This record gives sequence, C-alpha cells and structure tokens, in this order.
Amino acid sequence: MVSEDLMERLSWSRKDLISTEDLARAEIDKIFTLADIFGASLKGDKAKLPYLKGKVVVSLFFEPSTRTRTAFEMAAHKLGADVISVASNISSSVKGESLKDTARNIEALMADMIIVRHSSSGAAKYLADRVGIPVINAGDGAHAHPTQALLDAFTMRAKFGGDFAGKKITILGDILFSRVARSNIYLLKTLGAEITLAGPSTLVPGEFEKLGVRVCHNLEDAVSGADVVMLLRIQHERQRSTYFPSISEYAKIFGLNKRTASLLKPGAFIMHPGPINRGVELDSFLADSGRSVILSQVTNGVAVRMAVMKLCMDAAEKGK
Ligand code: CP
Repeated sequence: MVSEDLMERLSWSRKDLISTEDLARAEIDKIFTLADIFGASLKGDKAKLPYLKGKVVVSLFFEPSTRTRTAFEMAAHKLGADVISVASNISSSVKGESLKDTARNIEALMADMIIVRHSSSGAAKYLADRVGIPVINAGDGAHAHPTQALLDAFTMRAKFGGDFAGKKITILGDILFSRVARSNIYLLKTLGAEITLAGPSTLVPGEFEKLGVRVCHNLEDAVSGADVVMLLRIQHERQRSTYFPSISEYAKIFGLNKRTASLLKPGAFIMHPGPINRGVELDSFLADSGRSVILSQVTNGVAVRMAVMKLCMDAAEKGK
C-alpha cells in the first residue's frame, strides 16, 4: 500500500481534465508517478484499490470507442467505483435533450464523475463549466484527447528511460482533424521533445508551425532519424471534402512500410492510438512487429486513466 503522505503529495487542484494545453510539467509528472503505482498494482495482485470506493462514474460516449471507453471503465472498476454506461443511441439525447440537460440530470442522480466523448470540439469544457462534479474529456471533436496523449507519453517515457529532451517524434497522417495530434503536440512540447508533423499538405497545413513544430510533406524526410513515429488514421467521419485523390494513393505515398521504417533510428518504435487501418497508414507486418508498442499503449491507458480519475476526484472532494 502506498503511504498517505505520498498520496497527499500526488494531488492537484483541477476537478476536470479537458486538454493537455495548460498542463504543467509538475502535473504531468504526478500523473506519471501515480500511473507507475497503479500500473504495478494492475500487474501484481490485481486487487481493487479503494480510492474511488462508493463513487459512481458515468461514462457518456456520443461517438464510438473501443479502447478509451473500456480503459476508463476498467480504471473506474479498479479504483473501486461503480460505473454506469450511457449509450448515446438509447439516451434521451435522441429525443432532443441538450448535452447540458443530460449532464445536469446525471448530476441530479448523484453521480460523482462524468467521462464524456462528443463529436463537438468544446463539448467537454462546456459540460465541466456547468456541473459541479469532475468531467474528464475522452475526446471532443478535433480539439483534444488528453488521456490518449498522456498514455502515449507514458509509453514513450518507459522506452526513453524518462528523458524526452531532444527526442525526435514524428506524427504522421491526418493531423488536421486529429484531437490526438493536438493533445500530443502540447504535451510532448512541455516534456521537451522535438516534433515533426507529416502528411499531405491538405492534412498538414503549414500553420501548424506556429505551435513550435516542424511541418514536413515528404515521408522519407519526416521519418529519417526519428526516435518514434506515431501513425494516425484518416478521419473520414470529420472530413467534409476530399483531401487526397484515393486511399491507395495515400497508402503508397504516406503509408509506413518496411522500406520507410528502415529510415527510423535503430531502436526507434512505432505507435498508433488505434483504430488502425491496416495497409493504409501502416503496413500490417509493422503493426505486429517487435518495433510496435501499440498494444502497450492500450495497456498503459488503464493506469494513466486511474491516475487522472483519482487526481480529479480528490480535487473535487477538497473543493466542496
Ligand atoms: N484511441 C482511441 O481513442 O480509440 P477508441 O476510439 O477505440 O477509443
């Protein structure tokens, strides 16, 4: 069992987690330290921890999810909470209820925390400003997916031995519509990494350079000498027009394959938040190869989300 004194030091004042943009280095380190503790517990005796015992967590997903939803719900269970999943297709939102009313009704039912995924950028912050209980953003439109970026960085930290300074990280694919890319850019920059964004110019516009990253439209240049390459799928569900001639052409020019992966640094590894479109952004062989840490990302998602949920719940309790 971890000492109360250490747990007291591993605290913060946010009731919500909406974005990685304003996360301080010290806050990120607290998440990682707690995730180390929870990850060891998950691998060890697998007993439930009591930190959210008696709490009710509502999981409110208005977009499909496999990894994020399961990991959040598993994290809540592992912390001793009860979990209620509200499927958006059978919730009263289909009868015209607003997001605000849905959330305030969930709060009136004495829930203690809301995990929300929504297609509208800003939905999580909108809710967090209108309810007193913690709200954790599980992905809002193209804006942010903070816990995905945190689990990505947590996975890299283990591979890097803790130090991000000067590490070259290439994020390759549909950056324009990616909340994962945005959350990773802010987080990895705070941690000291050097970031290259790569893909077709229609999906990786030069304006991203304003965020302090390199923009590159040539796959070979983008991956040469990189320590990590993170692939992103094409987000057809958010695109309103055609951004490249065809999927097969995209795969040929921007898909990572054995030849282009050989340009990475020796020991470099391959990441993907999922779901993978095999044979499009990433060759199937590479996805399953020893260079891939894709399933470790998924595993780490539980411990990282346990850390975030504990930190936010404690902050909300202190603020009462
Ligand atoms: N990475 C991610 O958000 O996956 P899901 O859509 O399956 O949750």
